[in-house]
Amino acid sequence: KSLNSGAFTWSSPSNIALVKYWGKRENQIPENPSISFTLNACKTTTTIHFSKKEDQRDFSFTILLDGKEAPDFKPKILTFFERVETYLPFLKSYHFRIETSNSFPHSSGIASSASGMSALALCLMSIEKAMSDNLSEADFIKKASFLARLGSGSACRSIEGDLVVWGEHEGIEGSSNLYGIKYPYEVHEVFKNYHDTILLVDKGEKQVSSTVGHNLMFGHPFAKQRFEQAGNNLSQLKGILKSGDLEGFMSLVEQEALTLHAMMMTSNPYFILMKPNTLKIINAIWAYREKTKAHLCFTLDAGANVHLLFPDYEAKQIGEFIKNELVAFCQNGHYISDRIGFGAKLL
Ligand code: PMV
Repeated sequence: KSLNSGAFTWSSPSNIALVKYWGKRENQIPENPSISFTLNACKTTTTIHFSKKEDQRDFSFTILLDGKEAPDFKPKILTFFERVETYLPFLKSYHFRIETSNSFPHSSGIASSASGMSALALCLMSIEKAMSDNLSEADFIKKASFLARLGSGSACRSIEGDLVVWGEHEGIEGSSNLYGIKYPYEVHEVFKNYHDTILLVDKGEKQVSSTVGHNLMFGHPFAKQRFEQAGNNLSQLKGILKSGDLEGFMSLVEQEALTLHAMMMTSNPYFILMKPNTLKIINAIWAYREKTKAHLCFTLDAGANVHLLFPDYEAKQIGEFIKNELVAFCQNGHYISDRIGFGAKLL
């Protein structure tokens, strides 16, 4: 079917990795498997308006962030279009007007690449679907994740919820390097409705882009051990998720976060992405845990902000601790209360 014009809107969440993806090969193939919680409140909403054009030689699009033209995003989207054109042959036949906005503040230091690229991939897939006669729901999701991966690796884990695995792994049936899949095994009650409160320690520009970061794993002295460790941690997490072993969960998740940062600290060139307040928060969490035995742990992305993970049944008590003690370490007292979510939505 050929279409002259139309529009689709998707909102797509961010995600937070429990076992981290850090290091990739050609074509956005991850060096190790990863698994993430899909978030709920942190999301990107994107509308794509498309209209047929005469000249089919080049890509043609405008991009608006919060209603204002955002030329800074053009190169990233152009690269994305170039990468996915083989899979979406209609791309040069249309002009696109891409309107996007994030639920979290633009300069919060929260990466919008996962939610942004997954929302864009889903909008393009809706066009593809409107033009094809027989695209199953399962194939739609798989291909959306595949395309999102080509925009930003971790974006392939933002299509569905609530736990997503990306990267081939022996112990996870159906896992693939090419797209994320819903975690296919039993998950204990205690992980339902899990909380992720994001403490915004540093809202500045990222010191190391993830592209540069992944490249630092080429020739990294500990690369091989790290990639093996990620696989082993994923295998171990499988048991933890099933049994509801929160102690095991906390120690695995924190080890993953610190290892991600350890990789950056030991690469060439090397980086320290934590800020003094990141460490103060970590120490405060450990002291609080020692005192109260609460099941509060942290994880980190490639930056200074801290994600606080905890079960719903302890949310009241831990919420008090966050407000009374941890918010003081946030830039301008800013933090975001989020929790596990169930994936992208067509609006
Ligand atoms: O998706 P990228 O290329 O921006 O890489 C993100 C990597 C981490 O966020 C640091 C870890 C992860 O698995 O999400």
